[in-house]
Amino acid sequence: MRAVTWQGRRKVSVDNVPDPLIKEHTDAIIRVTTTNICGSDLHLYEVLGAFMTPGDILGHEAMGVVEDVGRDVGDLQVGDRVVIPFNISCGHCFMCDHGLQSQCETTQNRDQGTGAALFGYSKLYGEVAGGQAEYLRVPQAQYTHIKVPPDGPDERYVYLSDVIPTAWQAVEYADVPDGGTLVVLGLGPIGSMACRIALHRGNCRVIGVDLVPERLARARDFGAEVIDMSEHEPEPVVIDFTGGRGADSVIDAVGMEAHGSPIAEVAQTAAGFLPSPVGRMVMRNAGVDRLAALNSAISIVRRGGTISLSGVYGGATDPINLMTLFDKQVQLRMGQANVKRWVPDIMPLLTADDPLGVESFATHRLTLDDAPDAYETFQKKEDGMIKVVLRP
Ligand SMILES: NC(=O)c1ccc[n+]([C@@H]2O[C@H](COP(=O)([O-])OP(=O)(O)OC[C@H]3O[C@@H](n4cnc5c(N)ncnc54)[C@H](O)[C@@H]3O)[C@@H](O)[C@H]2O)c1
Ligand SMILES: [Zn+2]
Ligand SMILES: [Zn+2]
Repeated sequence: MRAVTWQGRRKVSVDNVPDPLIKEHTDAIIRVTTTNICGSDLHLYEVLGAFMTPGDILGHEAMGVVEDVGRDVGDLQVGDRVVIPFNISCGHCFMCDHGLQSQCETTQNRDQGTGAALFGYSKLYGEVAGGQAEYLRVPQAQYTHIKVPPDGPDERYVYLSDVIPTAWQAVEYADVPDGGTLVVLGLGPIGSMACRIALHRGNCRVIGVDLVPERLARARDFGAEVIDMSEHEPEPVVIDFTGGRGADSVIDAVGMEAHGSPIAEVAQTAAGFLPSPVGRMVMRNAGVDRLAALNSAISIVRRGGTISLSGVYGGATDPINLMTLFDKQVQLRMGQANVKRWVPDIMPLLTADDPLGVESFATHRLTLDDAPDAYETFQKKEDGMIKVVLRP
């Protein structure tokens, strides 16, 4: 089959690789019909490259049709149309029972000290082949799937794999009080979907922050107020907008590669050039995250407010302003999305009248063969690229 593979820092290619096969009774194979590129893939493209092996198949936002099943996959059947959550979870452990599927105890990577295995996400998360390919092997398939109706375009459902549950969890964890103010830092797919969800719920004022004009425009068109951080420091504007108090809740939908952290950017870039074993050691033991967005969140949130981190961080010794967090009595919630937990809340919104605008959410619809160029353009935020959907 054809698959998008990681080959080195800022280098992906499309190769012929062996078709995946059923290995465990709980596996299924799906024929991928739509598969997206995600902001999280950009971390692998560059900063987390030390945890990748050349040839690793990328991707964790796939949907398709079940082609083959092992004998213990419950009611999943050949021919079912399914979206595959980015985290692999069993559905019967303590964590899954508690709605913490991203911490699944059956698929946790204990040797790495990390949570549930993820598709296409490096040695840190199980080195499982990803979904930017013609076929995908799905472990724990009895639970790691979301059945979707046979009608409606793929783009109505494909964001169930990651974007919508991640944004949903970001808004849940932000815990905005009725009538309160939510600031969303970063208006990539995750931040812009978080704005849409919060606006759809309609109980709060939503202010989005970014520096890329078309990303700001998209959030504004959907009804958010926006702050262009290339023109204004967001902190004083938010303080001003909120009568001097700060925002009740802040979502950081930026993560470790934030713009505006020049020193950490140099450290990250340097770590990215180190031979992999040394690079891994640096990532594990040093503070290499670019913390500009997190630092903004800490400044912008009001005393007693909540910060919800959905942006991914990876530095083990990041210098965080604990003094201010403590003094301001801030609540901090974070983590990979527990995809399956939020599906029952989200599914009723994936209707033909499309209140979240999912069917027009993609900016680029390309083929697998276009992936190398798409990664480059997406990383540079060129060509108005916000969300790429690939059709194998
Ligand atoms: N928690 C999860 O389960 C989960 C799932 C998916 C993605 N993520 C993470 O969420 C983050 C966003 O993902 P995405 O797909 O939207 O990525 P993206 O890279 O497209 O979006 C990030 C946006 O942040 C903006 N930005 C950069 N620095 C900023 C700053 N200092 N202040 C405000 N905005 C800034 C960028 O211009 C960009 O528009 C990434 O870190 C990704 O890894 C987490
Ligand atoms: Zn993703
Ligand atoms: Zn589990």
